[in-house]
Amino acid sequence: MTTAALIVAAGSGSRMGGDVPKQFRPIAGKAVLAHAVDALASHPAIDAVRIVIGAGQEELARHALAGRQVGELITGGSERADSVRAGLKAIEAGKILVHDAARPFCPHGVIDRLLDALNAAEGAVPVLPVADTLARADGSLGEAVERSGLVRVQTPQAFRFASLVESFAQWSGASPSDESTVLRAAGREVAVIEGDPMLEKLTTAADWQRAEAWLNSRLVPRTGLGFDVHAFAGDGPVMMGGIAVPHDRGLAGHSDADVVLHSITDALLGAAASGDIGQHFPPSDPRWQGADSSMFLAHAAELVRRAGGTIDFVDCTIICEAPKVGPHRDAMRSRVAEILGIPVGSVSIKATTTERLGFAGRREGIAAQAVANVRMPPDL
Ligand code: CTP
Ligand code: MG
Repeated sequence: MTTAALIVAAGSGSRMGGDVPKQFRPIAGKAVLAHAVDALASHPAIDAVRIVIGAGQEELARHALAGRQVGELITGGSERADSVRAGLKAIEAGKILVHDAARPFCPHGVIDRLLDALNAAEGAVPVLPVADTLARADGSLGEAVERSGLVRVQTPQAFRFASLVESFAQWSGASPSDESTVLRAAGREVAVIEGDPMLEKLTTAADWQRAEAWLNSRLVPRTGLGFDVHAFAGDGPVMMGGIAVPHDRGLAGHSDADVVLHSITDALLGAAASGDIGQHFPPSDPRWQGADSSMFLAHAAELVRRAGGTIDFVDCTIICEAPKVGPHRDAMRSRVAEILGIPVGSVSIKATTTERLGFAGRREGIAAQAVANVRMPPDL
């Protein structure tokens, strides 16, 4: 019996505000909707994930989903329940999980508990207790509402597919705010399982800030190390830190031979445990012939960000007798900071000679070593 997940993402996010509806905006490096898809698609019991979006949101959705396998996008309606109905029409499955795109972080444990509960009930929902005092209010504070016995109902909600479809067919009330309401109205049993605070819905700007702060607090510091050497050949200038530094000799290399950008690129790739520059940009590939190395560095920075990481600081030591680095140091720092999208104060460039010893001392080439401090999500 197949298990499908239906993610409703057709809202406009009016309470959140902003130019782009919340489900398509990035948090921790990827769109809220993409987080929701990944959380469900990565569960071994889920066979397919389908998504409902609003009319005219195709471009935003395709961009947010970036190649994820979600079949054809389904067009939703003006209320959440209309979007769920549209999704149910487009899907066939044995069991179905209905989930809000606006709840991007769904632990696998919740899905395990929901699917377990479906063995005995026609539907199952995650719930959390109510901690605050509850009261009616209409301008002024009214009667208190007893909170014991009350719960907050989250998504994903799991159902036997036929039960959900039949219950919707019988529903005649106003637009329901969730599916368990529809099942209960049809007299069917809905089991409750323990919910999770990670499933809180992102509704307002304050929710967004809280989620971001929480994600940042989980990041774990890492340090990556990079090293690169290029030999002198031909005429100058030499590219260092994205700056053309005047010199009587140039550097040999397949790309523009910028040792500074190469070593920082490798440091970032190291911190992301993502191989090295040669793996991402093989020297055998003609595309990188004479390439501007800023694209290598930008790629490494993007990789860290897409993983939900943050670049805190990079430090690079250039090892050569000549040219003199000092006069160009600040220009290099500014350029590296610009490529990485971090403050210039978070970039350090230093230089040293080797007292005329070794290849650098004999002016045969330039070496550079770099470290990058980043913070990455713990599960990477
Ligand atoms: N949703 C939907 N179709 C609608 C309305 C909402 O698919 N017509 C989805 C939203 O995209 C969201 C989930 O239902 O993933 C929960 O809704 P909500 O948090 O209310 O999101 P929005 O309706 O987008 O926000 P708002 O109510 O603030 O406009
Ligand atoms: Mg809404």
